[in-house]
Amino acid sequence: DASDIEKGTYAHYMLKEIDEQPFVIRNIVQKYQDENHNIVLDNDIRQAMLNTDRVYIIACGTSYHAGLVGKQLIENLANIPVETHIASEFMYNMPLLSEKPLFIFISQSGETADSRGVLVNIKELGHKALTITNVPGSTLSREADYTLHTYAGPEIAVASTKAYTAQMAVLAILAGEAAKAKGIALDFDLIKELSIVANAMETLCDRKEELEQIAKDFLATTRNAFFIGRGIDFYVGLEGALKLKEISYIQAEGFAGGELKHGTIALIEKGTPVIALATQKHVNLSIRGNVKEVVARGANPCIISMDGLNDESDAFVVPAVHEILSPLVSVLPLQLISYYAALHRDCDVDKPRNLAKSVTVE
Ligand code: G6P
Repeated sequence: DASDIEKGTYAHYMLKEIDEQPFVIRNIVQKYQDENHNIVLDNDIRQAMLNTDRVYIIACGTSYHAGLVGKQLIENLANIPVETHIASEFMYNMPLLSEKPLFIFISQSGETADSRGVLVNIKELGHKALTITNVPGSTLSREADYTLHTYAGPEIAVASTKAYTAQMAVLAILAGEAAKAKGIALDFDLIKELSIVANAMETLCDRKEELEQIAKDFLATTRNAFFIGRGIDFYVGLEGALKLKEISYIQAEGFAGGELKHGTIALIEKGTPVIALATQKHVNLSIRGNVKEVVARGANPCIISMDGLNDESDAFVVPAVHEILSPLVSVLPLQLISYYAALHRDCDVDKPRNLAKSVTVE
């Protein structure tokens, strides 16, 4: 309950929750380790991952965006096919299911009606479900077979920040454990890489002034903004656009870099802000090519890249982390840019119009 949680010196819960992210990741790393520094995961969950031939991730809003990254994590690390679906769509347009589906519900609150509707349906069909939630004991947690806790602490601001990065960290741990169960050896130490992520987040939280300036330069008066990326960066762009829409009311859309030319590029005018993410080596050149295409049409480009892949003209460079964990780091500048854009446009950051923290109606 908001009244029980103090904002302290913070002007808004959202800013406080953004700042909490390094601690949340460290907390997750700790909670999922035993005293010998081995990752601990319920054996039933490990078995469920081992037994399934296809994972179906179901979620809404920001949790859906974490689910898109979760697909990459589970497919890349554990070699299990994954589909990520918007709950309200899955409800009425259920795809053909594989022989041994496993459902993963991602929900900060654990109370979202659209997700619960799907859970009820798939349980009736006799399928197993795992809920990843910030509220153990919530409806989605109680009604699923298994629960993984995101340990982010109460999230009060309507726009989700720390719950999103926590969900992705837990998905990475789940993917890593599923790989181990399948006898796939990871070529990196996940716990160590998550600790590097936490440190990188901390560095970013200390660079608020730069991001406030970017918000002023690119978003002070604009009517719209685009976020582009490829692969995992595309998914982070979707989340960046959602954050901006939710709290600043700027019309924002996330697009796959290569898809721009098939329609959206028609919307680019002189000065249109295009925020491009460049954290993935194998698509670094192609996303930069997409930026050139929009710049040629007058766009105002804001490239957010990862150290090592950066160019001199990039607006903001995040510290290098393991590529597959980059969303946990690259989303931070997007959260902060949205925060400052909303602040300077006099919007109600913590309680945006027309939105609710948890939507318990279909
Ligand atoms: C609402 C909130 C979003 C959230 C979505 C899903 O729309 O405003 O911030 O992402 O619900 O919520 P959940 O609790 O299921 O993650």
